[in-house]
Amino acid sequence: MIQDMTLLKDIILEAAEKARAEIPDHDEKAENKYTQSVDWPVKCTVGPGLEGAIACESKIGYVNGSKGWLIYRGFNIFDLAANCTYEEVCYLLLHGNLPNQQELEEFKTHLASYRYLNQTLRMVMNFPIETMNAMAALRMGTNLMRQEFTFLDRESGKPGLDSAIGADEDSIPMETIPQGFPSAVYEFEHYQRVNQNQDEATLEDASSIEAAYHLIAGVSTLTAAISRIRRGRMPVEPDPTLGHAANLLYMMTGRKPTPLEERVMDISLILHADHGMNASTFAAMVVASTLSDVYFSVGSGIAALNGPLHGGANEKVLYTLQEIGREDQVKPWLKEKLANKEKIMGFGHRVYKAYDPRARILSPLAEILVRNNPEAEALFKVASTLETEMVGRVGETKKIFPNVDFYSGLVYGSLGIDPSMFTSIFAVSRVAGWTARVLEYLQRNRIFRPRAIYVGELHEKVQPIEDR
Ligand code: SDX
Repeated sequence: MIQDMTLLKDIILEAAEKARAEIPDHDEKAENKYTQSVDWPVKCTVGPGLEGAIACESKIGYVNGSKGWLIYRGFNIFDLAANCTYEEVCYLLLHGNLPNQQELEEFKTHLASYRYLNQTLRMVMNFPIETMNAMAALRMGTNLMRQEFTFLDRESGKPGLDSAIGADEDSIPMETIPQGFPSAVYEFEHYQRVNQNQDEATLEDASSIEAAYHLIAGVSTLTAAISRIRRGRMPVEPDPTLGHAANLLYMMTGRKPTPLEERVMDISLILHADHGMNASTFAAMVVASTLSDVYFSVGSGIAALNGPLHGGANEKVLYTLQEIGREDQVKPWLKEKLANKEKIMGFGHRVYKAYDPRARILSPLAEILVRNNPEAEALFKVASTLETEMVGRVGETKKIFPNVDFYSGLVYGSLGIDPSMFTSIFAVSRVAGWTARVLEYLQRNRIFRPRAIYVGELHEKVQPIEDR
């Protein structure tokens, strides 16, 4: 067992070395220019889909797409994946520091208590889970979890009303820069950063942080139960002696994982925990900014993650590899797809224009797991060949490289997880980033309210219906 653990750590450290060698660190000062506080309102170039827009400041996570950097609270992902557990990383994202032994044990005790969702699962089992989209079932389950507990229903822990006033849309009278009324222009100067001095303590406030713990534990239990029910099996109760990753696999498969399987699952959960303002995190924050509810925020994150352009890609990657079938079929297959301008699942990224560091780690993990499994080994060889071909064709020209979804499906499949549950596993991990960023944003809340440039008519006259 020790040998396997050492092997996994060495693999991650080798991947880190390879990444550093390929893209040598520029000087830290250059990085500082991207990581300084801004004076609002801030000027930035914004493309369609808010590409490039700066929505807020955060200390939770940082992605440098040109260097292939992923950092959680100042720690690089290779260091965290090599040395920490998912529980430690959740604590880091939520609280801003890695826990000491006592803090970790207390946190794990909290998660263990929240992992039991008997009342919620009884309600979930009243629904036709077998025929539902797995992520729809998960989203529904998080809403049912809310019945038991929510920071908004509790007297304590409500985001301060002044943060609601600060979000008041009335201070922005119009959608677009108007002609004529200067007072109708955005009144940025009147926008005072509310809760300027609100201390960080609110994030530690018991009821809201408790809701985050509840969701981190509960999304895992829900995912495992949904997976079992979809296969006509009964849910498995969590085992209090197992950690988060081991319990996830145990509750899904009914079998306690080997130490290697547990650690690979643990590392995979670390890799997916947070990733800047990706679509699902942004969706969660938009809902939270209305002072809705952290359970509904996570539900909207799940809804956004379901899309194949975001979290749903890893399942499609596996089907792609099965469709290609053999290494010698990769070239003709790829040539046809690219000629048809089709997007290859598991490649490309809005931010990374270098290798996604998570793919650098997941690839060798997949290679270890497929050993002694001829079918999985064949798929891995197809994946590896496809990676080489794709990077050879569009890596340098279009900066398209494998992303986190390219190898994660092979890892999950080798752990006995059904492909239809791959995206739910992504949510099991990302719920940490969603809740951490929601709670951080609520400290200085402002309702998200971007603009749409109106390009329609302005002076239409209503015609009687008989004349239309
Ligand atoms: C995740 O945001 C995050 O952080 C997300 C995520 C996270 O952790 O939360 O990292 C997780 O979502 C990973 C991405 C998973 N999705 C996929 O693998 C689906 C396939 N990928 C693409 O749909 C796409 O790459 C996106 C959506 C990920 C990014 O798209 P962009 O930045 O909007 O790129 P684009 O659509 O503007 O394309 C730019 C060019 C185009 O070619 P040209 O028209 O310029 O000739 O690149 C091409 C695209 O055709 N291109 C691809 C491609 N992705 C982009 N060509 C082939 N295959 C692809 N996958």
